[in-house]
Amino acid sequence: MSVDPTAPTQGGFPVPPRAGGQPRPGAVRFLVPALVAAAVAVGLGAYGRVHDPEGTAFNLAGFSSTSAVKAWLATTSFGFALVQVLSALMLYGKLPGPSWSAVLHRWSGRIAFLVAVPVAVHCLYALGYQTYSPRVMWHSLLGCFFFGAFSAKMLLLRTERLPGWLLPVVAGLVFVALTVVWLTSALWFFRTTGVTT
Ligand code: HEM
Repeated sequence: MSVDPTAPTQGGFPVPPRAGGQPRPGAVRFLVPALVAAAVAVGLGAYGRVHDPEGTAFNLAGFSSTSAVKAWLATTSFGFALVQVLSALMLYGKLPGPSWSAVLHRWSGRIAFLVAVPVAVHCLYALGYQTYSPRVMWHSLLGCFFFGAFSAKMLLLRTERLPGWLLPVVAGLVFVALTVVWLTSALWFFRTTGVTT
């Protein structure tokens, strides 16, 4: 089954149009998630920029350093984000999928996010928002953008009568941001130090 990208959504998933037609969504439906996204992203960036990085380190048994723990957590988060994309394609009928694709989508998203949070907390608190090389600048910028776009996605999931293309576009931005954050941190770390724990 394929889905009309302009079809309305509810709870993030396509729904059939209601009898009598759909009223056009008001601007506030888009404005609130956009403003929240901007506030979250700018707020995190401002915090990371103005406070003195604490340089705090932590470790887990079996790992050689804080950076190694973070690189593996970030990779786990990115892996679940890939499951998010695949399960979303199943939900939109672009890939064959099991009847539990929606459950897979929800849980892979929850896990991807929850695993990313402690990594980002360490980045923001211990390292701060840094721009000393293009890689680090893009990492810091898109790390903050990721949390803003993620907040917008969560709000849009609870918004009724959205144009069908909006959620996939915002979700795609969240995924692209996490991908670049991972490329500029965990992948860079593994390429520099080797793939070790
Ligand atoms: C919230 C905004 C974020 C900021 C401001 C930020 C900032 C930074 C900075 C400045 C570094 C050091 C880069 C270097 O010198 O190599 C770093 C490293 C790293 N970040 Fe982030 N980051 C953020 C979000 C994230 C997220 C969302 C993830 C992954 C889910 C992540 C994963 C990592 C990893 C794996 C490293 C390498 C390990 C380390 O150097 O500690 N960061 N981050």
